[in-house]
Amino acid sequence: MKTIIEPFRIKSVEPIYFNSPEERKQILEKAFYNPFLIRSKDVLIDLLTDSGTSAMSSSQWAGIMHGDESYAGSPSFFRFEETIQRITGMPLVIPTHQGRAAEKILFSILGGEGKYFVSNTLFDTTRANIEFSGAEGIDLLCEEGKHPGIPAPFKGNMDVEALKQFIIKKGAANIPLCIITVTNNSGGGQPVSMQNIRDVKKICIENKIPLFIDACRFAENSYFIKLREEGYGEKPVSEIAKELFSYADGCTMSAKKDAFANIGGFLAMHDEELALQCRNLLVITEGFPTYGGLAGRDLEAIAIGLDEVMDENYLQYRIRSIEYLTNKLISAGVPVMQPAGGHAVYIHAKKFHDHIPVEQYPGQALVGALYLEGGIRGVEIGSLMFGKYDEQKNLIPAQLELVRLAIPRRVYTQSHIDYVAEVIIEVFNKRENIKGLKIIEEAIMLRHFTAKLAPI
Ligand SMILES: Cc1ncc(COP(=O)(O)O)c(C=O)c1O
Repeated sequence: MKTIIEPFRIKSVEPIYFNSPEERKQILEKAFYNPFLIRSKDVLIDLLTDSGTSAMSSSQWAGIMHGDESYAGSPSFFRFEETIQRITGMPLVIPTHQGRAAEKILFSILGGEGKYFVSNTLFDTTRANIEFSGAEGIDLLCEEGKHPGIPAPFKGNMDVEALKQFIIKKGAANIPLCIITVTNNSGGGQPVSMQNIRDVKKICIENKIPLFIDACRFAENSYFIKLREEGYGEKPVSEIAKELFSYADGCTMSAKKDAFANIGGFLAMHDEELALQCRNLLVITEGFPTYGGLAGRDLEAIAIGLDEVMDENYLQYRIRSIEYLTNKLISAGVPVMQPAGGHAVYIHAKKFHDHIPVEQYPGQALVGALYLEGGIRGVEIGSLMFGKYDEQKNLIPAQLELVRLAIPRRVYTQSHIDYVAEVIIEVFNKRENIKGLKIIEEAIMLRHFTAKLAPI
């Protein structure tokens, strides 16, 4: 059959609250043109993030009831630990309340002034935690990844040559870790190939630099490898994931993505000494090592979700549904990141709004327009999120100006997605009327979460 159906039935539903364009205009003004400042009940289709927004399965909800809330030695922890050990092959598992808590612990130990963390692309919280430690985060994305409109199978890859050069320039001793983000969220949800991970690993071994995986979307990435990389078409995703993790010395993970959990994360690794230091910090920041900032019920839900996500019927539907929306937009001439990524559609905002200069945040202007038109909430991944200032306070723009529409897992149906496409196309057809924005208030770090903006 050509039609790939949602591989689930719906047992429990949540209402969507409808509002009018006039109401949305006022809401947007009150939120200072920042989607993070809009209340969720004022949003019709919420594509702000795929993080923590998944619909949990009946098995996960049953797991919630099985959760054992003992402070120490809960069986829920051992189930969580065994699942992660089996999937990643890493013996030392440290639960955290979400991905950034794992990052905070790791980079507090390994970071500091004069250090460099190299990556295909660091996610914003990863970069912020690195910078907060005094170290620098370096993105070495492959050339294909820098051209949103040109399709290539593995646009999330790291630039191996640039990595070699960077190590020569700064010295391996100043690079505590290399991090590969799978899939590459900030780079468009694009996958990383197994070959690229192998090549990066080889360089890391030669230079004695440990390799960590930011594993938030490991199953989606593994499925792309199955679809696109020679030699993997017949392998089960669980085996592909195991191979992917086998090249790594450790990983951080936000369980709010590919584990279908509403909260949670972990660190996993091979190095006993590093794990000891992480657990020491864990106890003062997160909690005892067998719960680490989570309830026993969360540990259960994560363990179950980690196995569920490797169901290939699910992954086929998941990847196809993103492609479905992407293709609809391409047919209407909307400039989008190609090919479709694993968890989101990325609109190429600079092209969409070629009349709005980068200094006026074309991506953020598009986010506002989508909300006004159809109550859709997306997020800018461009110069508002990643831009910096030079000494004269001129904007140093981000590499790309994108708007991400992240699709929550197992939440929206095909008619929701059809509606989203209709709204985007409508906005595209009247894009000349949309105006740029200026920042009127901003925080020093992660400014996109709280920045206040106004139309120019
Ligand atoms: C690639 C990547 N790394 C890390 C994180 C941080 O995870 P959390 O939101 O659980 O702190 C995210 C969250 O979106 C992410 O996409």
